[in-house]
Amino acid sequence: MTRITRAVIPAAGLGTRFLPMTRSMPKEMLPVGRKPVIQYVVEMAVDAGITECLIITGRGKRAVEDYFDRSDIAENEENARLDALIDRLDIYFVRQKSPRGLWDALRYAEPFASGEPFVVLLGDTFTRPSCLPPLIEAYQRHRVSAIAVQPVPEELLDRYGVVEATPCGRGELRITDLVEKPDPRKAPSNLAVLGAYLLTPSIFPALARTRPGRNGEIQLTDALREAAEAGRLVGVVASGRRYDIGEPMSWLLANIELGLADPKTREAVQGLLEELGAGKGGALLQDRSPLIR
Ligand code: G1P
Repeated sequence: MTRITRAVIPAAGLGTRFLPMTRSMPKEMLPVGRKPVIQYVVEMAVDAGITECLIITGRGKRAVEDYFDRSDIAENEENARLDALIDRLDIYFVRQKSPRGLWDALRYAEPFASGEPFVVLLGDTFTRPSCLPPLIEAYQRHRVSAIAVQPVPEELLDRYGVVEATPCGRGELRITDLVEKPDPRKAPSNLAVLGAYLLTPSIFPALARTRPGRNGEIQLTDALREAAEAGRLVGVVASGRRYDIGEPMSWLLANIELGLADPKTREAVQGLLEELGAGKGGALLQDRSPLIR
């Protein structure tokens, strides 16, 4: 069994959906509960056995680097927990020369990957529960790249990569094709690429061969097509709720879920929801179909 120990976390995006907040702070540092979103992403990685993270930053993102230095103030429980997290992994940073999207960010990861399969997690997005363990298991079973997907309402399909796939058991799919941000009427399915990937190093030469696609930009989705056509790409249907914190609505909902999950704040959040007439509080969140926006 190949141990998957490396994660690449692109975190250079401008965060325009969360202006004006992101004029002076990286979107990855937006707080969810009592931690910035990027900590949830790193925790997802570490909990899945990752011991080395490459965070791809850029202009205006220095706060992300400073955050992952030890601070050694143990009196604050949350602070001590972050120090303990930092001790469990090595974190590397590389600056993307300009924020040119996922494909360009990934090119900086080639030396880090060292010819081994690796995980890619977006620096502003996490799922609860984590979608990473099933992704790693799918790789171990099939020995090919694996990507997390989730059904989304038709009108939102043009925001995502969308896959054409056939089920192959255990919530896994054999992906036969994928299209970046399709016209919803022509989308091959309602299964969107969530932004969590387990990639084999063959992605690097594939990216180098990929020509500009959607919006005149090179797309990771297009580079993955080669693997799909060769029958070497598996999809894993993620069952968790996905929070894309760079998007204000998703940020707000994540704060409610995390506020309800934290024993220190649960009662107050629940009380407020009831007082405001939501009444159903936790049930409202639990009953929701998987969120992807
Ligand atoms: C990227 C990917 C897309 C994926 C999405 C998930 O798009 O290109 O395939 O569905 O992330 O968030 P972006 O959000 O960078 O436009």
